[in-house]
This record gives sequence, structure tokens and C-alpha cells, in this order.
Amino acid sequence: MNLKEKAAEAAVKHVKEGMVVGLGSGSTASIAIKMIGEKVRGGMYIIGIPTSRDSEILAKSVGIRIGELKDHPQVDITIDGADEVDPKLNLIKGLGGALVREKIVAVSTSMEIIVVDNSKLVDHLCQKAPLPVEIVRFAHDATVRRLEQFGCMPKLRVRVGELYVTDNGNYIADCKFDRIDNPAKMESELNLVPGVVDNGLFVGLAHKVIVASEKGIRTLEKK
Ligand code: A5P
Repeated sequence: MNLKEKAAEAAVKHVKEGMVVGLGSGSTASIAIKMIGEKVRGGMYIIGIPTSRDSEILAKSVGIRIGELKDHPQVDITIDGADEVDPKLNLIKGLGGALVREKIVAVSTSMEIIVVDNSKLVDHLCQKAPLPVEIVRFAHDATVRRLEQFGCMPKLRVRVGELYVTDNGNYIADCKFDRIDNPAKMESELNLVPGVVDNGLFVGLAHKVIVASEKGIRTLEKK
């Protein structure tokens, strides 16, 4: 088993009969979805709330029954990945492009479990990863210029030669800051820029972070 599989396996142990389960996005969360699928095929009843179209397609393919937040507004547990985790368990998410739906599901979740390998642990956010900011397509150049005024270098995300479009029909500006020392302030100030839908700062939303390393599994808990 590789590190992502080990982290996913430890998280999936928390999934129990009858739960409403948020299904994260990205490679580590996808491993968890496949493992949840095995439990379902073994007879466990759960309802999955996907955080992206890709996760929904994968979940259906492994036999997970899919629900919507309107019918299940309280999610018992969500298993999702992250791009960076700081010592206070604040996160950067969204390199997979699903940050808006991931945050909507996270704020509806009683137990948000983040699964990472130890390469994702950082001293401060933006140490390695850029901060993804989802912006509407209308006048996106003007929005990107406003993001520059925060002291970052925004780059519109491109995939196979085209501007990347999220599940919500928007663009993503990947904003590289030297560091983000006050993620709560940055999260709310970025979201005040007209044209910004949301950004990949997840502040205080992770209850547990399961970290897999060569030495084993460690669970970091929200204080
Ligand atoms: C998806 O939008 C992201 O938030 C992912 O959860 C994050 O990028 C981690 O992905 P990996 O598990 O593939 O590294």
C-alpha cells in the first residue's frame, strides 16, 4: 500500500452503517471512495454526497448511492484531501478544481477528515502550493488584476491548452503568495472581490487530519 492508500484506509474506518458521507475530490479522496464502495458492496448502507462531478461518477461506478445536500443537509463524515495543512489544521485545497463544492460540503459536515501524505504538512500556508481562487468568467481579467493587489502572482489555470473550467462553469486563478500568515483574514478579504466565487483556504473546517508517512499513520485533531 502506498501512503495515500494508507491514509484513506485509516479514514474509511470511521464510515459506519447509515451515515451520510461526503465524498471528497482528488487522488487520495478517490482511493477512499473506492474503499467505501467495497464496504457498500459488502452490505453497508450509506448515502454519498459528492464534491465534484468526477467523484460522483466514481462513486456511482463503485456502487455508492448518491444523495444531495437539500435532502441530507447534515453530513455525518466527509473524507477529502488537501494540498497543504498548517500546524493549526488550516488548509489549502483546490488544486483539483473542486474547492467550491468541497467547502459547501465541509461546512455541512460534523466530522471533516482530511487524508494526506506527510509531504502536505507545511509551517505556513502557500509554502509550496498556490492558493486557488475560483472566479466567474465575466471580466475575469479585471478580477485577476484585483487579486494581484493582494500581493500575489495570479495565473489563470490552463489544462491541455485551454482555460480550465470548473464544475460550476468558472475559471480558477492560482495565486502564489510568499506565505499566508492570517488565513482567516485572507479568506474573507479575497471573497469580497467582485467576481470571486470562493477560494481554497479552509480555516477551522478540518476536525481530523490523517497523515501517512513512512513511519506510519498519525491523526492530528482540531483543538
Ligand atoms: C480537489 O479540488 C482538491 O482540494 C484535492 O482534495 C486536493 O487537491 C488534494 O488532492 P490529492 O489527494 O490528489 O493530492
